[in-house]
Amino acid sequence: MAEVLLAVAGLTVRYGGIEAVSDWSLILHAGEKVALIGANGAGKSSTLKALAGVVTPAAGKVSFAGVDWQGVPAWKRARAGLTLVPEGRGIFPRMSIEENLLMGVPQNTTSSRETLAPVYERFPRLGERRGQAAGTLSGGEQQLLALGRALLTRPRVLMLDEPSMGLAPKMVEEVFAVIEEMTATGVALLLVEQNARRALKLCPRAVVLESGRTVFSGEAVECLASPQLRAAYLGD
Ligand SMILES: Nc1ncnc2c1ncn2[C@@H]1O[C@H](COP(=O)(O)OP(=O)(O)O)[C@@H](O)[C@H]1O
Ligand SMILES: [Mg+2]
Repeated sequence: MAEVLLAVAGLTVRYGGIEAVSDWSLILHAGEKVALIGANGAGKSSTLKALAGVVTPAAGKVSFAGVDWQGVPAWKRARAGLTLVPEGRGIFPRMSIEENLLMGVPQNTTSSRETLAPVYERFPRLGERRGQAAGTLSGGEQQLLALGRALLTRPRVLMLDEPSMGLAPKMVEEVFAVIEEMTATGVALLLVEQNARRALKLCPRAVVLESGRTVFSGEAVECLASPQLRAAYLGD
């Protein structure tokens, strides 16, 4: 079995009196791909944010590659290889495409601009428009920019929050193709998607959240075969 990269135990996230994530646990191995699905408000984004260190959990233990992450700030988590592309993509619309990409390059790289070459090669549209404000890109292109930037951080675990939200079907396919490429070489994936059917096609494993708790954890094929889960999350 592959190395345990991320170990989560008893994770609890509260906002005032609201408990968004309740005593939640997960083991994620190197290279494993997990679809995290659930209705609006189920606690998916809160889970990803707590793992990324963007929100502080009320309780629970997170360790990464065997190291306890209690109190470790978000930037250190990112540098260790846990990369979150947040809901809404986290693009800075008034900064140029190139400036947005450079934020994904770890500091003290001598020739940062050279490291962007593979991204421009993979996404020629971004290269052609590198000097333009990122806000001028279409929603789909902004998602590709966010993924390109995530790629530059050299992730070991990629966490994507609703990457296909608001995109036309053709663009959804392109975004999923890029995610597939990015995770083909052993990068682990925690994918939050409203488009559950598409997510389950990409991820062999599924975790279903309801009110901050896991109500299903198992193989994607098993999830797809369950009449209850199909009715609740796949629109059948
Ligand atoms: N910043 C916040 N302040 C207060 N409540 C929040 C905040 N963020 C999320 N919540 C609440 O926490 C619950 C889980 O939200 P969220 O993690 O965004 O779910 P999901 O991503 O599955 O839609 C919801 O009830 C939501 O209203
Ligand atoms: Mg969300």
